[in-house]
Amino acid sequence: MTPVIAPELIDLHPEPADLRRLVLRGMASRPRQLPAWLLYDAEGSRLFDQICEQPEYSLTRTETALLEALAPELAAALGPGTLVEFGAGNARKAGPLLDALQPAAYVALDISAEHLAAACEQRQHCHPRVPVLGICGDYSAMARLPAHPLLEGQRRVGFYPGRSIGNFTPAEATQLLRQFAQLLGTDGLLLIGIDHPKSRARLEAAYDDAAGVSAAFAKNLLVRLNRDLHSDFDPDRFHYQARWQPEQSRIAMALVSRCDQLVQLAGSSWPFATGEELISEFSVKYTPEAFGALAAVAGWRLVRRWSDPGGDLSLVLLAARDSYQQRLVG
Ligand SMILES: C[S@@+](CC[C@H](N)C(=O)[O-])C[C@H]1O[C@@H](n2cnc3c(N)ncnc32)[C@H](O)[C@@H]1O
Repeated sequence: MTPVIAPELIDLHPEPADLRRLVLRGMASRPRQLPAWLLYDAEGSRLFDQICEQPEYSLTRTETALLEALAPELAAALGPGTLVEFGAGNARKAGPLLDALQPAAYVALDISAEHLAAACEQRQHCHPRVPVLGICGDYSAMARLPAHPLLEGQRRVGFYPGRSIGNFTPAEATQLLRQFAQLLGTDGLLLIGIDHPKSRARLEAAYDDAAGVSAAFAKNLLVRLNRDLHSDFDPDRFHYQARWQPEQSRIAMALVSRCDQLVQLAGSSWPFATGEELISEFSVKYTPEAFGALAAVAGWRLVRRWSDPGGDLSLVLLAARDSYQQRLVG
């Protein structure tokens, strides 16, 4: 058996000064809100994987089953190229696509360095014939993908499953899709997962599981800030809340101050009143129509959409405008 070579990793992680700047901006905003990617240090990524196994959180199971069932059809629709996954996490969802598509290469982008390294090794082990490259960085802040032989000379097929697009407001999501178009090129494709609106009870349970893993995931953000920015948040002085906001079609996840308190961060004191929120992330839910309109504004053309039998979520194939037709004709 040919030994599997550890995949190469390119480190573009934001510097500590960038982290400090982003946190100070979020702390000064009202309500206070931090970028969702800050949730994902090594412990955050481990907890996220645990969330995906909770009985209330069906998104991962449903989307994985859909990807497995559709893999040959998706591979035919996507065609040859390099598969570029944004926010790959443990990269397990790419497995069925890599088997069916056998792309020229698999490039996994993620902010969580150790988790990404382990995910890339695992993918390389399971798919030894597909060269794997990891890029650790904030995809929402990338103007272009780094120069690398595995990213040259092939059509780029973007893959963005899960709840990730929902972390951005619709205006930010439009901007992100425009940016993905730039990263993927004029003949690029994007296969993206969107989670649909559901009942309040179902969504609030999914994002605040009975075992308390979602709460631990959000509170780990404070632990991370204490470690990386030497703040003195006491996680026990906050409680976790996941609230469905139907007007914005989103779940708002927040750490809510249990008391009046002062937090030391970056050389300043930050008051929190009782009940004041620090938003850790949003999860916007899109109907197929609402997402189609957003993608069109961002310059993408809808090629096809697949949904699970229960209609909980969709996988949507988008093409850089006009490119898909040209590929079929050419
Ligand atoms: C919700 S998880 C989804 C993981 C996986 N794609 C799935 O569907 O199960 C989001 C993943 O994206 C990564 N992530 C979040 N924001 C990011 C950003 N701005 N840039 C790069 N990675 C990011 C996180 O580290 C995490 O692994």
